[in-house]
Amino acid sequence: MSDTNLRHVLGVKDLASNEIETIFYRAREFKEKGFSSSVFYQQDPAKAPIVALAFFEPSTRTKLSFDTAAQRLGCKTIGFDNPASTSSAKGEQLEDTIKVIEQYADALVIRRKEHDTPEVIKRVASKPVISAGVGSQEHPTQALLDVFTIKERRDLETIDHVVSYGDLANSRTMFSQVRLLAREGITFSFVAPKQMQINDEFVDEIKAEGAQVNLFDRIDDVIEDVDVLHIIRPQKERWDSDPTEMYSAINIDTFSRMKDDAIVLHALPRTGELSPDTDDDPRSIIFDQVANGVFVRAALLEWILTA
Ligand code: CP
Repeated sequence: MSDTNLRHVLGVKDLASNEIETIFYRAREFKEKGFSSSVFYQQDPAKAPIVALAFFEPSTRTKLSFDTAAQRLGCKTIGFDNPASTSSAKGEQLEDTIKVIEQYADALVIRRKEHDTPEVIKRVASKPVISAGVGSQEHPTQALLDVFTIKERRDLETIDHVVSYGDLANSRTMFSQVRLLAREGITFSFVAPKQMQINDEFVDEIKAEGAQVNLFDRIDDVIEDVDVLHIIRPQKERWDSDPTEMYSAINIDTFSRMKDDAIVLHALPRTGELSPDTDDDPRSIIFDQVANGVFVRAALLEWILTA
């Protein structure tokens, strides 16, 4: 039986607003003052918590930033990012993999494609688990670092219009970010080719949170009114046929039509949908997102390990 007091973070709704503020406050402390205030800093290495990184899907940023965050805090890490080299390739089920890893580690970070992953974790895990992304469903820590990075630039109260652009149908990053921001009473525009547009179920979900929702198929329809533009790559790994070139790239000409105080986000990796000629424009904060991933994930790890 799973311990219901465990601090699993499997979706953004697992965190209350005050808990997110606590995590952001701590992330800001780490960013401004370093990690020496970590409760695990300079701990006897034999007693340092061990964080297991179990990545069944590819990752550069999420895995390496969790690894960096854990080690900066004074924790140790174990893990894998090639499931073919693990016993899942021999048919081991997630239930058993979790029960095994939690004999070695104090917290788990799991990325996996299958949408039953949160349900399995809640049912069997006796150590805290953070989702590092589940299929096309949720990527809660990306959403946290997105919102943390937005707030470094602008008060959320000044943001009226968030535009998500690209392959929305399968974007776990977008789903988590919008679920988090929907609490703020923002208007959302979803701009995508028909095949890549969000479904009615998601529209209903965020409308129920009080959000206004608009659907478009051309970025030109909204670009001049954007406060936050979130660009999403074609999720090739979720489509049977190659979906590239189904929507136009954002480049410096597109930026020239945006407001001076707009903010542009991309979770990366990018694959042609956001031109590098925008990188030096101060409205692009895509590498601030990358940097902040370490601080936000460190704050989250410390929070779940000290519950
Ligand atoms: N943004 C993000 O999740 O990147 P990775 O897939 O490289 O972890």
